[in-house]
Amino acid sequence: MCGIVGYIGARDCTEVLMDGLEKLEYRGYDSAGIAVFENDIIKTVKTRGKLEEMQKKLQTEGKPTGHCGIGHTRWATHGEPSDINSHPHSNGRVTIVHNGIIENYIQLKEFLTEKGYVFTSQTDSEVVACLLDYYYAERDPLRAIIETVKELEGSYALGIIFRDFPDRVYATRKESPLIVGIGQGEYFIGSDIPAFLKYTKNYVLLGDDEIVCMNGQDISYFDVHGLPVEKEVSVAEWDVEQAQKCGYPHYMLKEIHEQPEVVRKMLNSAVKDGVPDFSEIGLTDDFMRDVKRIFVVACGTAMYAGMVGRYAIERLARVPVTVEVASEFRYMNPIVGEGDLVIVVSQSGETADTKASLELSKALGAKTLAIVNVKYSAIARGADMFIHTPAGPEIAVASTKAYTVQITALYLIAFRIAFARGTIDEEELKRLTAQLGNAPKAIKDIINNKDECQFIASQLVNAENLFFIGRGFDYALSLEGSLKLKEITYIHSEAYAAGELKHGTISLIEDKIPVITVATQSEVLAKTISNMEEVKSRGAFIIAICRRGTVFSPESVDIRLELDTVLEDMLIPLPTAAALQLIAYYTSVLRGIDPDKPRNLAKSVTTE
Ligand code: M6R
Repeated sequence: MCGIVGYIGARDCTEVLMDGLEKLEYRGYDSAGIAVFENDIIKTVKTRGKLEEMQKKLQTEGKPTGHCGIGHTRWATHGEPSDINSHPHSNGRVTIVHNGIIENYIQLKEFLTEKGYVFTSQTDSEVVACLLDYYYAERDPLRAIIETVKELEGSYALGIIFRDFPDRVYATRKESPLIVGIGQGEYFIGSDIPAFLKYTKNYVLLGDDEIVCMNGQDISYFDVHGLPVEKEVSVAEWDVEQAQKCGYPHYMLKEIHEQPEVVRKMLNSAVKDGVPDFSEIGLTDDFMRDVKRIFVVACGTAMYAGMVGRYAIERLARVPVTVEVASEFRYMNPIVGEGDLVIVVSQSGETADTKASLELSKALGAKTLAIVNVKYSAIARGADMFIHTPAGPEIAVASTKAYTVQITALYLIAFRIAFARGTIDEEELKRLTAQLGNAPKAIKDIINNKDECQFIASQLVNAENLFFIGRGFDYALSLEGSLKLKEITYIHSEAYAAGELKHGTISLIEDKIPVITVATQSEVLAKTISNMEEVKSRGAFIIAICRRGTVFSPESVDIRLELDTVLEDMLIPLPTAAALQLIAYYTSVLRGIDPDKPRNLAKSVTTE
């Protein structure tokens, strides 16, 4: 969703802001803008469209030269993507960039209109600029911000400059990410660390409603009452290379290739003496033994990772697991409480519905565990227990490496819960953990075999509709494979539990329609094959993903992608996921789409 940057220091501010916005492109946006002090005058350049449009506009309108300013990429929520609705927004003496949603903006707009303010955009954000101006009567920026945030309902990260203070950038946040970068005599703000990683690795996390004031020489933090706050400086673990393409044509391809390494990292961080051990974060055997029910709550790909986790936990530990879409869970008055464990899974750690579900679960008395990739995110910090997925920065909108690491974490949890509850013994715990140690190689083998995925993509490139089918773990993989494919290829795709297709949807099967059959699970293989044959006999073009040597009747499969792996069935989703990601990736590229930036999508969904 929207990206915020801000800078004060000796560098060329426009360059720093544009560079930061480029690093935040992955969040998804449809317009962009910057406001920079040039000789004490704020010069604003903004436009609908991508950063290339901004660069053109900077050429034609003149690039602001200065050392202090703010910038923004907007993902439209209130009002269409247009030059006027783009940020920064100014009114009177204040210019702002905003990420989030101001829920009471209509009431505030009425109030401000009565006070004589005139609005030019359709955004909720413009009211913040006006309200700040309204409370700026005493020309005290801090007081104006304090009074303003008291009135705002909803979520916000704000970068603010005041016309009278050409050497200051202010920022504040509530429920939307905003990070402060600390350089040598220069300061930054960004919605995420990559925005300023090129200049500094030192950062500070702002708490809800904390305010930062930075000038070239100094930085100060205040609470909502205006009292000074001491903040701790952390050092980012990421380096610039990790946040760059490193020779790959797309981030997505790079991130697919990183999977063997990051899965290995996950294993290294959670396995001690050959077995998973989460006691350090409070996930002890005693707790796991007594847990009544488990809920996995997440959105999109993270939720599909939860489905794999559910199959693994239920199979091994015999604890009931429910997987819920976070946007439903939070409003369904869920029957959750003491004795239950709610696992929230999220790459970004900022997803609004997942975060709200976490808060609700805590309020209802459940224990919460977050499996999150971004350590400093709100979800990671808000849960009772936190497992960090060390996937590193995931820039492509389509989640790949975060998903496989989430699954790895969930397998390790499943093994340990099963051991804690006595459904497996120590020997089996060690055996399963060692088996999972083979996953990085299995994923690597698929990646080395990418030509086959590329060939399958060439057969899908002109499809208008397609289906994925599978049973059990293969069904969970089908859902994820289908989501991946549709989000970056724009081909309509549906995933079905293989046995469910004939209860209606099979009427859509017609000549040559591709059906990707995921058939890796030996327990249900015969059943999956018969479902595959049902659609084949109605004209479907069958692509089967299976273990090497799986026997099908000669005419039932058009193309097969065979997995060579020693992994047992339960763990085979890891290499299968890589195969499905590569198929989606190559299909997207063949269709001339940029897989890193699919239309209408945002990387981090901070609104409901
Ligand atoms: O950051 P999160 O993992 O919480 O994001 C959840 C979904 O928005 C995300 O997985 C989305 O479905 C991806 N675009 C899928 O590739």
